[in-house]
Amino acid sequence: MQEDGQDAVRGFVPTPAKIIDHMVSRLFRGRPPEPSDNLLDPGCGTGVFLAGVIRWCRETGRALPQMVGIESEPGRAREARAQFCSTDGIQIRHGDFLTGAIEPFDFVIGNPPYVSIYSLSEEEKRGYRVAYETARGRFDLYLLFFERALKCLKPGGRMVFITPEKFLYVETASPLRRLLERVQIEEIEFVDEESFDGLVTYPTITTIANRPPSGATLVRMRDGTQRSCRLDGGGSWMPIIRGGSAERSSGGTLRDICLRVSCGVATGADDVFVRRADTLEPELAAFALPTIAGRELTKPGEIRSHSAYVMLVPYTKEGSLLAERDLGPLGRYLSRKRERLTQRTCTRRKPWYAFHETPPLPEVLRPKILCKDITEKPYFWIDREGSLVPRHSVYYIVPADAGLIERLCDYLNSPEAGRWLAEHCQRAANGFLRLQSNILKEMPIPDGLARSRRRKSASRRQLQFPELADSERLAVR
Ligand SMILES: C[S@@+](CC[C@H](N)C(=O)[O-])C[C@H]1O[C@@H](n2cnc3c(N)ncnc32)[C@H](O)[C@@H]1O
Repeated sequence: MQEDGQDAVRGFVPTPAKIIDHMVSRLFRGRPPEPSDNLLDPGCGTGVFLAGVIRWCRETGRALPQMVGIESEPGRAREARAQFCSTDGIQIRHGDFLTGAIEPFDFVIGNPPYVSIYSLSEEEKRGYRVAYETARGRFDLYLLFFERALKCLKPGGRMVFITPEKFLYVETASPLRRLLERVQIEEIEFVDEESFDGLVTYPTITTIANRPPSGATLVRMRDGTQRSCRLDGGGSWMPIIRGGSAERSSGGTLRDICLRVSCGVATGADDVFVRRADTLEPELAAFALPTIAGRELTKPGEIRSHSAYVMLVPYTKEGSLLAERDLGPLGRYLSRKRERLTQRTCTRRKPWYAFHETPPLPEVLRPKILCKDITEKPYFWIDREGSLVPRHSVYYIVPADAGLIERLCDYLNSPEAGRWLAEHCQRAANGFLRLQSNILKEMPIPDGLARSRRRKSASRRQLQFPELADSERLAVR
């Protein structure tokens, strides 16, 4: 484990005492600890949960169980050790909960670190991917803590974790949901969004008994309502929690009827490749395509097909990168920005003037539906001419049958689709929804639209051999 400055803050979000006391009472409800029981707090920080257990035992007149706290950050581990040095039966281990051997426990309680995959080293990611079922896709460390805690819980043991609510619905947490369906999830409580001193984390307290599932889970919603439900399957649990049934319709999904559901084109240097149309040098016009960013998608219903901005595209219409000698005036323009372009990491494996991601132009330049990547309320627009290049802040949906575009867009803007998106999409910090292609692709579609599935394969074949002349240059007009 590194001991640098970054690690010192890694995933540290202290839990308020009120929440700790509430979680400890859940942990021991109907099953108070015996002195011979053992309890674990993984990622114990300075030991606030262990202190909470001591408070609970004092107030109820019970003897303490044996307790272990594990903390990877040496300063906090030291502080915890100092705090409990005169209390028998408490052991603070400085180490990594996710690696190395560990004994089984009767109780596990804690607030695992929220550390996204982007903060992990390549070596850590590789190691976790080998050791953990939950280390899939863009995983977060709290998912791995969940898995390890479940595995070190004795049969009949109980654990209580506070984590972001995302594990209930994001695709990345599907392997964790598969693990959780094998045990009894006694309760899920959606906790007040402001619980962590202004840090909006959408927290959830989950209480689990390590025994085969035998009954329903009690869900306590943030508005004070409660319901019982059976949580199973690797799909999103939100429809079940909100009172629906299965998460998938029996029919098809958006993926089935679309040629593409993707995030817009990433140049890696929009400051170079994206220009205002009205100040563009005439000799660059042959390389320019109108482009649109999320911030330009404003009024419902309206879309400006002649955007104020254009993207300079060093690719053929088939999406092949032009040779440097064929770039002409675009080459001269880009050469002046060469230093900026070579700062992009992608140029380690690509020519200096290529986009960060190769744009699939034959699919992009088609009639399509557009939406913002982050939005308070999802809304979908139609680019009927198929002329706009969506930028990275825009998602685009290309139906296989362009004749369905109006109906599909109407459906995507329907309250029913809006509810589905609200239940399945991740939330950004301000409560806005984050639309991601893997979620959009799984969106159920009405039967009438699903029937067009058969036509998708035909369109795909056509796409492989598009009738696009002028493969040398992109001509806007
Ligand atoms: C969200 S904080 C919670 C701290 C404390 N339990 C509390 O509730 O205030 C998570 C803690 O886990 C620690 N941590 C992160 N990765 C760890 C690992 N692999 N093993 C052990 N501890 C880890 C962090 O240093 C941090 O102190």
